[in-house]
Amino acid sequence: MKKLEEYVRSIPDFPEEGIIFRDITSILQDKDGLHLAIDQMQSELDGIDFDVVIGPESRGFIFGVPIAYNLNKPFVPVRKKGKLPCETVEIEYDLEYGSAIIEMHKDSIKPGQKVVIIDDLIATGGTIEAITKLVEQLGGEIVKIVFLMELEGLSGRDKLKNYDIASVIKYP
Ligand code: PRP
Ligand code: ADE
Repeated sequence: MKKLEEYVRSIPDFPEEGIIFRDITSILQDKDGLHLAIDQMQSELDGIDFDVVIGPESRGFIFGVPIAYNLNKPFVPVRKKGKLPCETVEIEYDLEYGSAIIEMHKDSIKPGQKVVIIDDLIATGGTIEAITKLVEQLGGEIVKIVFLMELEGLSGRDKLKNYDIASVIKYP
């Protein structure tokens, strides 16, 4: 069986010149790749006590929901602005290419809840830093952040020094 990193397809100059895009579709479209990704991300949560999984739109949903389901926990989506129907908290942030505004429902996290954040990839760390601010504004406590891939050269971890972070595949 192939190793997980062998399922990742790397595309130079997408979506703009100078970016190497780490594509997860080549993992997802293979049943073994999908199993390896979910299992290896989930194993980073062994021994962690938590109440809820949070994942950002859209790739965070793909990995966050199966992990929440397997571990019998609820899943809270973080969405791009304008998609959530009830009262929200929102924040603007920068990422590797561009900027965005994300939102969470105000009632999605209860004060004191222990939160795990799941996403496919950390580049600049802008997305997850923004989510940590929203979660803490709602009174949640972040106990672990798990990524499938980490682009170490962009030093995203530096923005997240106060948190317990794990990534399954690391690119220099
Ligand atoms: C991508 C990726 C991460 C984020 C990482 O999401 O899935 O969430 O960028 O970049 P950062 O560490 O510099 O913040 P994107 O906003 O492109 O949305 P998508 O998942 O819908 O493609
Ligand atoms: N999101 C931000 N940077 C990325 C990259 N280099 N590859 C895939 N997704 C990304």
